[in-house]
Amino acid sequence: ASYDMGGHDTYMHKEISEQPDAVDRVLRGRIDDRFNTVHLGGLNLDAREARGIRRVKILGCGTSYHAGLIGAGLIESLARIPADAEPASEFRYRNPVVDPDTLYIAVSQSGETYDVLAAVQELKRKGARVLGVVNVVGSAIAREADGGTYVHAGPEVCVVSTKCFTNTVVAFALLALHLGRIRDLSVAEGKRIIEGLRKLPAQISEILESEDEIKKLAEQYADAKSMMFIGRVRGYPVALEASLKLKEISYIHAEAYPASELKHGPLALIEPALPTVAIVPDDELLEKNRAALEEIKARSGRILAVAHREQEKADHTIVVPKNEDELDPILMGIPLQLLAYHTALALGRDIDKPRNLAKSVTVE
Ligand code: AGP
Repeated sequence: ASYDMGGHDTYMHKEISEQPDAVDRVLRGRIDDRFNTVHLGGLNLDAREARGIRRVKILGCGTSYHAGLIGAGLIESLARIPADAEPASEFRYRNPVVDPDTLYIAVSQSGETYDVLAAVQELKRKGARVLGVVNVVGSAIAREADGGTYVHAGPEVCVVSTKCFTNTVVAFALLALHLGRIRDLSVAEGKRIIEGLRKLPAQISEILESEDEIKKLAEQYADAKSMMFIGRVRGYPVALEASLKLKEISYIHAEAYPASELKHGPLALIEPALPTVAIVPDDELLEKNRAALEEIKARSGRILAVAHREQEKADHTIVVPKNEDELDPILMGIPLQLLAYHTALALGRDIDKPRNLAKSVTVE
């Protein structure tokens, strides 16, 4: 496919820049201010069925899997349904127990990823209910699923996914709110999340305005041979996704770890040559995350924090606007897309066509 680059040098840059509009699109027409809930037309799941769900299992690959991890957290916290995410490929090769009271959700930008499609087909064969959270309208996974929701990110051309990741997470927030309001989430809580969702487009624009600052940081860290990304609970999938972005386009080795796991091994790696990118939101885990920064500093590790205010233990902080705790991961991922982008640019990489990768993996 070839689309107008709209004055950008790369599709990746264009797609990162489109995120305020893309998020606006996924929200449009879906919020119900009377009941403080969300309507998602294509779910094919009535309230009684929604109340009968005992578990949620989310399946996807790569970036879509990471969006699913955040989605699982949103469903657990807003709808109080046990939820988790797993790479679709792993799931389908381990002969999973398919449970009729579990809602399965397949996530895919292209809607054509073979491992996801095969997982959906296996689930359907075993009588499971499967929803799709998909970007490309009418794609194979969208057609195969019992229902679902489109993420409306618009065409994504760059091999590395950016705007579709963000929109997928927003779509999960909508789904979680919808399920939550059918179950135990109060009107006031529904309103709180809706107000948070509505702030996202302007807050994303605000983050995009700090691109020059992020570019300078990227140039400072681009000499690293390897980077560590850490986050806790909601921040951990953000770390996973940011490390994948960096690997894909800069070819710098990167690892993502839950901040709480550092002391169980990876702390041994910390030294000045291994910088750490830390996700440090102003939430109930702030003090725990700060303690991790101290551990790293004590070993002379360089730290770049993504936080809601300047972190004194960090060498640099990218400050992002605060939203509701549950929605913070959406915003914290954005500057790290730009960090990966500018790191790759500083290293002269072919950003839209990273080596060895294809936009969609339609074979096994
Ligand atoms: C994202 O940057 C990757 N190139 C890749 O991990 C991708 O997310 C994965 O292949 C899944 O693709 P899909 O969303 O089209 O199913």
